[in-house]
Amino acid sequence: MVSSTKSKSHPGRRPLVVGNWKMNGTRASSVALLAALRAEEPFGSEVSVCCPYPYLADVVLSLQGSGISWGAQDCSHLDPGAHTGDVAAVMLTEFGCRYVIVGHSERRVHHAESDQRVADKARMALAHGLTPIVCVGETLDERVAMLTESIVKRQLSAVVHTLGHCVSQIVVAYEPIWAIGSGLTATPEQAQAVHSVLRAQLAAASTLAGEMRLLYGGSVTAANAHALFAQPDIDGGLVGGASLKANEFSAICRAATGAALESPGKLKT
Ligand code: 13P
Repeated sequence: MVSSTKSKSHPGRRPLVVGNWKMNGTRASSVALLAALRAEEPFGSEVSVCCPYPYLADVVLSLQGSGISWGAQDCSHLDPGAHTGDVAAVMLTEFGCRYVIVGHSERRVHHAESDQRVADKARMALAHGLTPIVCVGETLDERVAMLTESIVKRQLSAVVHTLGHCVSQIVVAYEPIWAIGSGLTATPEQAQAVHSVLRAQLAAASTLAGEMRLLYGGSVTAANAHALFAQPDIDGGLVGGASLKANEFSAICRAATGAALESPGKLKT
C-alpha cells in the first residue's frame, strides 16, 4: 500500500480547488462572478473554474492574464464528427481549457455513462493535452451496504486499465453522491479513508501516484474545507454550490493553502 504521504511533500501536489458551476448562471452573472474572484487573488493554491460550454469564450476574456485557469464539465469520447449535441475535447483546447471534468455522478446517472465511457473520455482529454478530473463516488445505499470501497475501485479501475501508466496525469475527485448538494459532508476521516484506498489503487498502476492530486467534493464550504484539506491524501476540492459565490469560494481556496502550509514542503507556487 502506498504511503499516505503525511507531509504531502511531493512537488506535484500543489493544492487544487476547482469550481464546478454545473448548469448555473447567466453570461452576465458569470462575468461578474469572475471579476469578484479575480479581486480576491492571489490564493496560493491552484484555482480553476469549470463553466458551462456557452460561457467559455466569456470566461477566457475574464480570466486571461489571471492566475485562475478554466475548464469544462464534460467532453465527448469521440473525435469530431456526426455527434449532435456533443463537444469534442479538441474544441475545448481552442478555448485554452486546462481541465475537463469527466464521470461526474450527475452524468453517470442522467446520461447513463458507464465506467468504460468515462475512461474513454479521460483518454480523449489526455490525448488533447487536457487534464481530466475523473469523478468517482458511491450512493448512500452503497455506503450503508459497506460497498463504498468496491464501488470507487471499480470506477477507477476502468480508468487505470484504459490509461495505463498515463493515469498519473489525471486528477481524481472523490465525490460521495449522498454529499453532493445535500449539505451532508463526508467527515474528514470518511473522506481520507476513501482517498487512501484510491491512492493505493493508483500506486499499483503508477510509481507517480504519490504525486497525484486527489480532490474531495460534496458540500464543501468555507466552514468545513480546512479540516477536509488537512487530511494527508486530500489535495483540494471540487466545489459545486459554494463556487457560485466569490467570497465563499475564495475562502475555500485559501483553506487549501492554509492546510498545505501546515504540511511543510507541500505548497509549491
Ligand atoms: P456541491 O459542492 O454543491 O455539493 O457539489 C459538489 C459537486 O458535485 C462538485 O462537482
